[in-house]
Amino acid sequence: MLDLYEHTDKYSSKNYNPLKLALAKGRGAKVWDIEGNCYIDCISGFSVVNQGHCHPKIIKAFQEQSQKITMVSRALYSDNLGKWEEKICKLANKESVLPMNTGTEAVETAMKMARKWGADIKNIDEASSEIIAMNGNFHGRTLGSLSLSSQDSYKQGFGPLLNNIHYADFGDIDQLKQLINDRTAAIILEPIQSEGGVNIPPTHFIKEVRQLCDEHNILLVADEIQVGLGRTGKMFAMEWEDVEPDIYLLGKSLGGGLYPISAVLANQDVMGVLTPGTHGSTFGGNPLACAVSMAALDVLNEEHLVQNALDLGERLLKQLQQIESDLIVEVRGRGLFIGIELKTAAQVYCEQMINKGVLCKETQGNIIRIAPPLVIDKEEIDEVIRVITEVLEK
Ligand SMILES: Cc1ncc(COP(=O)(O)O)c(C=O)c1O
Repeated sequence: MLDLYEHTDKYSSKNYNPLKLALAKGRGAKVWDIEGNCYIDCISGFSVVNQGHCHPKIIKAFQEQSQKITMVSRALYSDNLGKWEEKICKLANKESVLPMNTGTEAVETAMKMARKWGADIKNIDEASSEIIAMNGNFHGRTLGSLSLSSQDSYKQGFGPLLNNIHYADFGDIDQLKQLINDRTAAIILEPIQSEGGVNIPPTHFIKEVRQLCDEHNILLVADEIQVGLGRTGKMFAMEWEDVEPDIYLLGKSLGGGLYPISAVLANQDVMGVLTPGTHGSTFGGNPLACAVSMAALDVLNEEHLVQNALDLGERLLKQLQQIESDLIVEVRGRGLFIGIELKTAAQVYCEQMINKGVLCKETQGNIIRIAPPLVIDKEEIDEVIRVITEVLEK
């Protein structure tokens, strides 16, 4: 008989290479595997379960809505889409929102909006409209967002991809200036790069990008799909530099760890370029997604999770920075989003941490990303610190 792993592998596509660990239960910041072993979750489904696993309020909203109505296509109105829209627009200080489902769909939507805005408002010839992205970015895996990737290994074999995408080093304002011309419709960036290795840009970089966009009439698109909604100790990571983008992209924890919902937020001067028939999504903004997302946003607010991320993140960062180890190049981060860059491959150390009850994963080969649910408490954070120190102190 096949064991669980063999059974899953037999039928799975091979586009992932998961660790041999199967989870069966999650509550708050903790998860349990099929043998009942408990772990503190420092992966959080890649920042999807910011509100914690199986949050009772979000589960309740899901259950209640699923007994009323779950799906209304956008051919009609529903009784809760407007309520969700108002909540998310007020949170992001934007006039309008376009709901999608996954992060990559939000990115695709922003790319379409940027091109349409470029053509309609800036009179850029459609054939030559350009977008600037950052080296080391991650915006998703579908063809548009893949076209933004600077990582050749992600793109190999999938061409032809979109052309007219240019790249600047994250943090290099002079390089960015060189790339700007009359055909530039948008600059897209993650305010803190996630998959790229928890990369924090130099102070003022984001502000300078904003200035460039203002000077040259270019849209600034902030991909906050992973770092938004409290992860970095601010509601939006752009707040670290006090900058408002023209377009916000949200996803992941917007659905409270329960349901995929993403959002593209902009003011009417930008959103207005989309007219009936120019874009859409069957599931986007369905009543179940809206009910779950409203509960997810309420939990962030009612349980002061942004503040918790700031306070406990500071404690975690300080303690991790004090680890004496020849292995560590740098420990960096904001809020509960921390990268431990090692001189060597990180996988083996992640496995040791997992064996000691802290679930984590490496990115870019040598960086351990620590991103627990924002509901994590001080005791759990101290346990994470104890385990990481034990594994890395040399
Ligand atoms: C910054 C960022 N943008 C976009 C995406 C794509 O989101 P999804 O996997 O939901 O399509 C991700 C996923 O990790 C991400 O981290």
